[in-house]
Amino acid sequence: METGGSGLPAAMNRRNALRLLAASTTGVVFDGAWIEPARLSVTQQDVICKRLPSGMEGLRIGLLADFHFRPKEDDALLERVIQRVGQENLDLIALTGDFMNKDPEVLVPLLDRLKTMTANHGVFAVMGNHDGWNGNPAKIRRQFEQSGISFLINEHSQLSIRGDTLAVAGTDFVWLGKPDPARALRGISADVPVLALVHEPDYFDVMIRHRDILLQLSGHTHGGQCRIPLIGYSPITVKYGTKYIDGGFSHGDSNLFVTRGVGTTGPRVRFACPPELAILTLRQAALV
Ligand SMILES: [Fe+2]
Repeated sequence: METGGSGLPAAMNRRNALRLLAASTTGVVFDGAWIEPARLSVTQQDVICKRLPSGMEGLRIGLLADFHFRPKEDDALLERVIQRVGQENLDLIALTGDFMNKDPEVLVPLLDRLKTMTANHGVFAVMGNHDGWNGNPAKIRRQFEQSGISFLINEHSQLSIRGDTLAVAGTDFVWLGKPDPARALRGISADVPVLALVHEPDYFDVMIRHRDILLQLSGHTHGGQCRIPLIGYSPITVKYGTKYIDGGFSHGDSNLFVTRGVGTTGPRVRFACPPELAILTLRQAALV
């Protein structure tokens, strides 16, 4: 009788190996399709800023992106997001685009829940490529503004925070959109820090050619959506999201954070890459 290295018959070893493979595959598919896409993870991270006005030390910003909202399927996850945000007493909330997959009508039930979120200095949103491809920008903007959320398309707002000024600047989506950083940043004095909201993260390299960006917040990549466990490699990348895929980056005095986002595109599958609410705390470099 032919035996394997363990002394067991080779056919039995092969059978066991196949069973193990089938069980692992079933586990991966079950986790990726049913467990992980609905499991909210909360990332808490300090962003060390070289030139942060003292009034903004400790400022806490909530970042959510890429809802790609699917009513019914995503209702429970959205509720988890809303509840968690409600517990956090955030200073500012940024929503960096891709609210829909294809159907702009999903904005109605989505905004019905998002409009309940509050932050001490407001909630701000920008367009994602899916929003721009499928929706009417003027209508989208009106829907957000009617929900109490500032919608920035190549423009900015200036906020007074404990005696210091922060500019929140948002661009149009990049992928086939009309981003205009010069217009978005025009009129912000050089000593005022900028929080930039740009859907596609790789546009960071363009933004920092215009001026230092205290922090750019982006989504778009879904962190790869499916990653190889332990090494975190994402085999699937997306245009304008190939250089900066997930987490924090810095260049000179500028910083970038890319969230894994909330929803999914294509099959509703995530693996080793759960939906994310990112909570970023600004810290003065001198104090760290
Ligand atoms: Fe996107």
